[in-house]
Parts: sequence; C-alpha cells; structure tokens
Amino acid sequence: MYRSHTCGELRLQDKGKNVQLAGWVQTVRKYGAITFVDLRDRYGVTQLLFGETINSQLDSNPLGREFVLQVNGTVIERSNKNTQLPTGEVEIDVQSYSILNRAAVPPFTIQDDTDGGDDLRMKYRFLDLRRNPVRQNLELRYAVNRAARNYLHQQNFLDIETPFLIKSTPEGARDFVVPSRMNPGQFYALPQSPQTFKQLLMVSGYDRYYQIVKCFRDEDLRADRQPEFTQIDCEMSFVEQEDILNMFEGLIKHIFQEVKGISYTDPVARMTWEEAMWKFGNDKPDIRFEIPILNLKKPSSVFQDRNDSRNLIEGASFNVFDEAETVLAIAIPGAAEFTRKQTDELTEWVKRPQIGMKGLATIRYNADGTCKSSIDKFYDQEKIKAIAVAASAHPGDLVLILAGAEERTRKAISELRLEMGERLGLRKPNEYKLLWVLDFPLFEYDEEGNRWVARHHPFTAPKPAQIKTMIENNPKIEDAANYLQHPYASIKANAYDMVLNGNEIGGGSIRIFQRELQEKMFEALGMSSEEQQHKFGFLLGAFEYGAPPHGGIAFGFDRLCALLGGSESIRDFIAFPKNNAGRDVMLDAPATIDEIQLKELQIRTDVKNA
Ligand code: AMO
Repeated sequence: MYRSHTCGELRLQDKGKNVQLAGWVQTVRKYGAITFVDLRDRYGVTQLLFGETINSQLDSNPLGREFVLQVNGTVIERSNKNTQLPTGEVEIDVQSYSILNRAAVPPFTIQDDTDGGDDLRMKYRFLDLRRNPVRQNLELRYAVNRAARNYLHQQNFLDIETPFLIKSTPEGARDFVVPSRMNPGQFYALPQSPQTFKQLLMVSGYDRYYQIVKCFRDEDLRADRQPEFTQIDCEMSFVEQEDILNMFEGLIKHIFQEVKGISYTDPVARMTWEEAMWKFGNDKPDIRFEIPILNLKKPSSVFQDRNDSRNLIEGASFNVFDEAETVLAIAIPGAAEFTRKQTDELTEWVKRPQIGMKGLATIRYNADGTCKSSIDKFYDQEKIKAIAVAASAHPGDLVLILAGAEERTRKAISELRLEMGERLGLRKPNEYKLLWVLDFPLFEYDEEGNRWVARHHPFTAPKPAQIKTMIENNPKIEDAANYLQHPYASIKANAYDMVLNGNEIGGGSIRIFQRELQEKMFEALGMSSEEQQHKFGFLLGAFEYGAPPHGGIAFGFDRLCALLGGSESIRDFIAFPKNNAGRDVMLDAPATIDEIQLKELQIRTDVKNA
C-alpha cells in the first residue's frame, strides 16, 4: 500500500494515527537538525517533519523539488499552525521514507502564480497540470460535464456516439482530412460537428439524442477557438423552436445551479438578430450593461426597413456624416468629465487597424446642461443637444459618434461599446446574463462568389411562413449591387444562438426534413444535382424514409467551462490544448511522417522531410 490518506485529508482529530502519504515534494526547508517538507498531491498539501533521528538520512539521500516521495509517520499537532491550509493544524512526524522517483529541476515553479511563460507551460503541460488553478479548471469542466449528463439523462436523452472518420459536414470551416491506406487517393474528413448523424438518428426514431463530443475545424484560431474542441451536441424530434429553447434554457440553468450554486430564475432574455445588430452592433451582445447604439441616419442597408432610425444629422454640410452610409452613436454614462487627453486616446483607439475607423466625434453633455462637441462647427447647440438626447445621454455623459460604411462602423461601435463597458467596470465578472438571439437570416450574401451561403448551416429550416418564398423564387442573384432586393435576402431562419455575457455559447436550428426543400436549399447554395447527390445523397435518401420534424442545438463545452470559470480563454480549460498556430508544442505536432508511411498512403508531398 502506497498511502493510507491523501495529502489533503488529515485534520486535528486524526492526531496520533499512524499514516502513509505519497505525493510530490513542493518545498524542502531545513532548520538545523530538522527539516520540513511540504508534500503535495491532487487533494492538497501536508507538512512533513523530518525530526532529529531521521534527518541525518536526508544528507545521504536528499530530496528535491517534485521528487515522488512516500512517507510513514504519525499525525501530530503543529506548534505553529497555518490557518490558510485545511491540513494546517497537523504535520506528520516521519518515521521512514522512500523516494519513489527523482525529478529533474522543473523548468518553472509549480505554484499558483508560476514564473513560467505560456510557451514553456504548454511544452511541459504535464507539469503545468499539477498547478492548482489548472487542476481547478479541469475539475470545473468535469462538474459541468456531470451536470449536463444528469440533466439530459433525466430528460430521457440517449448518449449515442457517432464516427470521426466521415465525409465532410459543412459548418463554415475547412475540414481536417485523413488519408485512407485501403482506399488510395481517398480521404476521410473529421467531423466539424456530428450534424448529419444526429439528424439521421432522428430519422431512426431516437427522438432525444446527445453527445459530449469532439469537433474538428481548420479555421483561424482565437482565445475562444481551438481546432479541436468539444460540444454538448443535442437533437430532438417532434419539436418546434419554443420546445428547444425551453429544454436547453433548462440545461444551462441546471448547470449554473449545480456548478456555481446560482439560481438563474429569470427567463432567459430574447432578442431578434436584427434588434441585436441594430441596438448593439453585434449578434452576441453583452447585456450586462445597456449603452444602446443610436442610429443617427437612416441606413440604406439591410436595416432599411427600420422605422426607428432618425435623420438627426441632415441639413448641415458636414461631409463626413453626409457621405457616410451609417452614423452611429453611444452615450457613455458619467464620462463628460473625460479630459481632452482621454478622448484623444479614444480616437487613437478607434483608428487602430483592428477597429479601422478614420476618426471619432464626441459630444460632452455637461452637468450644467450645456454641450461641447468636436463637431460644433457644423451643428448648432440645439442640434448637438438633440443628438445627445436622442442618444439617451444625460447631463454628465459623453456621446461618441462613428461614421462610415455600414458593416465596419457597426462592428466598430460595438467594439467601442464593449471597451467602454470594460473601462467603466460594467462587465462584472460575477454577473451572468444569458440571452437568446433569434430569427437569424437564413442566407448571407457572399460578395466574392456572388452567391448565397448558409448563415448557420445548410440543414437549417426557414421560418414556416417563408418556405413558399424560398420554393417559388429562383435563388440566382441577377443584380449583385441590389442583392438586398432579392426575396432570399429577407428570409429568416428558425435558428437561435445562446449568448452568455457577450459570448456565443451555443447555436442551433429547426431543420429541414423534406427532400424537396433540402434540395432547394442546396440549389440556393449553388450545388448542382450531381454535387448534392455526391455530398449529401445519404441524407436526401434518408428523408424519403419517414423523417420526422426535428431540431437541435450544440453548446461550446470549452467556452461554457471557461466562462463559468471566469475566463474567456478556453485553453486553460482543456487538458492538452493547441497554441494559436494550431500546434501541440508538447508533442511537437503536426509533424512530418516517414517515407514508408507516405508510400503506403500513396501520398507525395512537395515538402521534404526533416
Ligand atoms: P456551431 O457551429 O454554432 O453549431 O457550434 C456550436 C457551438 O460550438 C462552439 N464552437 C467552438 N468552440 C471552440 N472552438 C471552436 N473552433 C468552435 N466553433 C464553435 C460555439 C458554438 O456556439 N451543428 C451545429 C449545431 C446545431 O445546429 O445543432 C453547430 O456545430 O460555442
């Protein structure tokens, strides 16, 4: 037996017990004829006392950091208690010890605040995983996993595994592919999601499916994206959008309760995609704080039908505003006192390449009710004040205005809103605000290819009332400049995203389940009949054998864990993540393969093996 207790377990009531502990040496502190050692395992740290009799053995057989040590001893009361540590009232009076394994000096300290940089920690991830913060993240991940499984099990969902070596499932990224030795020149694709399989399971009658499953996407990486990541993937039959929203609102609330002890009793807020874009410039708005966007000009864009836009800036000959496609404003509470230096810094901020604006106009709405603006030259006081008031500014606020092309400006003001929310402390880390974003457009226009692409994925159903529009119209875009006039531009989908504090944590849709409509969808995306048959013949075929109405959703499991753990970076919540270049620096993967393997696969590469 290596151990009778863990290093986190012993308390004062265990005093006098003879125990065996095993773990890693955290620290060694010599005090003359005695030595103190902190022994660490997954459960905690216990202090060991090497008294005068045994201490001399350490001279010939010394301990070092991260040595694997086993000790035999008696639990005694500490004279110098450590109230910070659960085991801090006791120590082990060591009678015998055995070094189970030695350790090289670790390249960084295994402590909560380590001196190791990101790359070093990733290279020695097995050491990094010994640190408390990382271990706590993985424990939280397991808690989320358990809570999700419990809830879905209670609701009669079946966990069914689906294959990884498949044919492409389009989710908007590139596929990772795997060559087949037995089928030379042919490749499997790794699933971007189990989308088509879960739909086939519905055709098979498994009306409630889930899986906590790996997905693989070759796309540009960010803090919240990994090339392989995990989804809580779900599908249900005989459901409408409302059924799905209720079921999965329940899932997330259950996870909040179980993992964080938070009773999220309010119904999850809902907003249409159009409202989110109009009011917050973003399809995943952070609604922990208000600061809505005011549209100062009626845009000639996708929002042309909005009737709450105003033309507040007309009539002055200010070219920048007059010529801009869009002019947008936000009012920052209490910021009228910003100094010139601060507003200049904000101007520089919006000019950064990531934001890409040419400038920033400001209106100080002073506490005494007067206004001072960077565009005073063009507008009289009355007009300036009218703009400030329309932007919901109160005396003491600062109005920030951006003008430019629709898409870029909306994105920029959305970023500016988040930045100001951050600076003003309005994005509180312990506050959780969930939001359903609904009614996404079914299609997006791809300018380069002058064609439609699926906003969610090609299996998403249009709103029932718009099926006719889809069926009866030719998807071809004749007039690229006026694509917005095409009937397809206004088709909305029965698709929904769940947003947590400004992060998309899940997305799904009601699916197409009739062959004709699915074919029409593929046709709209520019797929010929042959291509449809080649890529999705299995699905179209299945739809002829009694496909029930169905829909589903997938949550980004890593993202959910990171957010519940108070971080926006998912890497810290994955045991063995990849870096931003998609590399596993510990394994040094991806790597070249040897000539024999290449030959077997009948693959030739232009890159010479190292
Ligand atoms: P979608 O593509 O929206 O939907 O993905 C669902 C959720 O997965 C998370 N996610 C990611 N997390 C980490 N790294 C990535 N690269 C990454 N990509 C996506 C997001 C996202 O909301 N089959 C559909 C679901 C359905 O329709 O049922 C799908 O995969 O949190």
